[in-house]
Amino acid sequence: MKKVKTMTRTETRTKTRAKARTVWVRAGAGRYGVVCAAGLLRRAGREIAKLGRFSSVHVVSSPKVWRAVGKVFAGSFARGAAPVVHLFDDAEAAKNLATVELLTRKLVRAGADRKSLLVAVGGGVVGDVTGFVAAAYLRGVALVQVPTTLVAQVDSAVGGKTGVNLPEGKNLVGGFYPPRLVLVDPEALGSLPEREFRGGLAEVIKYGVIADARLFAYLEENLEKILRREAGALEHIIRRSIEIKAWVVSKDERESGLREILNYGHTFGHALESATRYRRYQHGEAVAWGMMCAALLGYGVVHTPGDTVSRIVALIKRVGPLPGWPKTSPKKLFDAMHADKKARGGRVRFVLAPRLGEASSYDDVPAKMVECVLRCAPECLQRPVVEIVSEATGMGRG
Ligand SMILES: NC(=O)c1ccc[n+]([C@@H]2O[C@H](COP(=O)([O-])OP(=O)(O)OC[C@H]3O[C@@H](n4cnc5c(N)ncnc54)[C@H](O)[C@@H]3O)[C@@H](O)[C@H]2O)c1
Ligand SMILES: [Zn+2]
Repeated sequence: MKKVKTMTRTETRTKTRAKARTVWVRAGAGRYGVVCAAGLLRRAGREIAKLGRFSSVHVVSSPKVWRAVGKVFAGSFARGAAPVVHLFDDAEAAKNLATVELLTRKLVRAGADRKSLLVAVGGGVVGDVTGFVAAAYLRGVALVQVPTTLVAQVDSAVGGKTGVNLPEGKNLVGGFYPPRLVLVDPEALGSLPEREFRGGLAEVIKYGVIADARLFAYLEENLEKILRREAGALEHIIRRSIEIKAWVVSKDERESGLREILNYGHTFGHALESATRYRRYQHGEAVAWGMMCAALLGYGVVHTPGDTVSRIVALIKRVGPLPGWPKTSPKKLFDAMHADKKARGGRVRFVLAPRLGEASSYDDVPAKMVECVLRCAPECLQRPVVEIVSEATGMGRG
């Protein structure tokens, strides 16, 4: 089986320092820091002031997010330096060019100039839209990301990808535009709806599988604390996820190789999302199903040990029940994978983990193995874990 790219456990560990409060990300346009600390929102104004002087500061957020964190965030700025606040509805359906026009026009009317700063306060939708606006407004103004969902904290706010959807598909218009600073406060997750929180945990589990067996073991041991959103456990898994994402995107900012491993579980996940027209699953739930499928495929293709497959499936199942597998034929799901934008040169790529903490991308996985997983997943992954593992170990290897 031909590997496209690999990352090893040792590499990630040497690149990160335990307990470092600021994680640095190398980007083409210079490096930026990701500060992660409980209570950071209360100091956000001071952290932002360290970047230097701006002619004006404009916060972009949504009414829901602003209700949850606006008072604390706005209160962190010095008297007389209060930011201008622009709110928009952050539904996924509003992540479009019309919202970009609306926000840029608001900025013009509020007098934002080239020395102004934009601050995105919200989840991935707010972050992606505001990032794109910052890249385009007057050909680029400074940007700070203040993520308030688990997905945004461990994933979308780090790495500089910005963009919006078109009616034809998700994230089809956008650009790479790194922020000057990212401020991550795990306490901001206190008001996050349960489903959003559990969905975000799928991406954290992903980091454990692809890059850090110790993070994976930590999740296994501390899942109950994490589900109760206990501060220490939450801060630990968020910081470690950020370190891994920062390490990957610093090595491969524009997704020409290594960054692809972040798509673990996503080839299956995107197929499930598109086959159900993005209505049945929260993204993380589709990725959770996708990671269980990728684990089974890994067993067949790269000889992932059965015990590892069972640990991955068991941990995902402990996070909570997932909406059921759709009544879509394996053939339709298989076709949906080919339509996915991540497929290059007509070949579908799969990220597989031969062991915990290590992953590679493969573009020559036999179609029959994929079809086999799609056929058995709905039946076998909805059963208790013990049965799943014996099913997996009975599966033929390629
Ligand atoms: N740029 C990237 O690299 C990248 C990576 C992953 C995902 N994304 C994008 O991110 C988006 C999904 O982001 P998301 O999962 O953060 O969801 P989201 O931005 O849609 O937010 C989910 C919901 O939570 C609410 N919310 C946010 N913070 C809250 C808080 N602290 N308290 C209460 N409610 C809160 C929001 O108002 C929204 O209703 C997608 O559009 C996806 O394409 C981008
Ligand atoms: Zn994802």
